[in-house]
Amino acid sequence: MSSGSAAELLPPAPTLPRLREAAASCRACPLWENATQTVFGEGRAAARTVFVGEQPGDKEDLAGAPFVGPAGRVLDDALAQAGIDRAAVYVTNAVKHFKWEPRGKRRIHAKPSWSEMAACRPWLDAELAVVKPRVLVCLGATAAQSLLGRQFRVTRERGRWVESELAEYVTATIHPSAILRQRDDASRHAEMEAFVADLRLVASVLRNDDGGP
Ligand code: URA
Ligand code: SF4
Repeated sequence: MSSGSAAELLPPAPTLPRLREAAASCRACPLWENATQTVFGEGRAAARTVFVGEQPGDKEDLAGAPFVGPAGRVLDDALAQAGIDRAAVYVTNAVKHFKWEPRGKRRIHAKPSWSEMAACRPWLDAELAVVKPRVLVCLGATAAQSLLGRQFRVTRERGRWVESELAEYVTATIHPSAILRQRDDASRHAEMEAFVADLRLVASVLRNDDGGP
């Protein structure tokens, strides 16, 4: 069964554990069929910052947790360099099942479609409604366009605050896997520096924000 939206699966009085449990059996779009499990967001409901990626990758699909593979290691490293404690942030994805294509024995990431993102959006909206972050960070174009509009261009608008109803402070930066895709060490290093610089903006607001309205 594929109803086209996860909305009807939302539990009454949602909490993160209830949402996670409900999302585990979601079949609102076809992506569940070829994936191992739903990869729900991870972190505390009290987190002040939410990071949103695209979708789980191969390792995340197997582990059932977001950003635990190679891209997650880049994210961890960049967060540490920027002075942000990963344990204090909530990390999730725009789409909760791994979309992939076979290449030999490997499963290669495939970009989720607009309708798959729309189908999955109620889970992300529900996570944001429970966590109510002060700061929301979109990692890469998929998350940014899903949350900030299809016109949003990460290359042009990364690393600055954008006006949004979603949180007091909202920004977008590149996806950590874009760093891994760089061809040589020099470009990888440059992209990492720029990524960390964007995250320092987040760190500075977290240091100075008093949590007020
Ligand atoms: N890439 C993402 O966007 N999310 C993950 O959880 C892992 C890799
Ligand atoms: Fe449901 Fe999202 Fe998985 Fe599609 S990707 S089945 S909407 S949890």
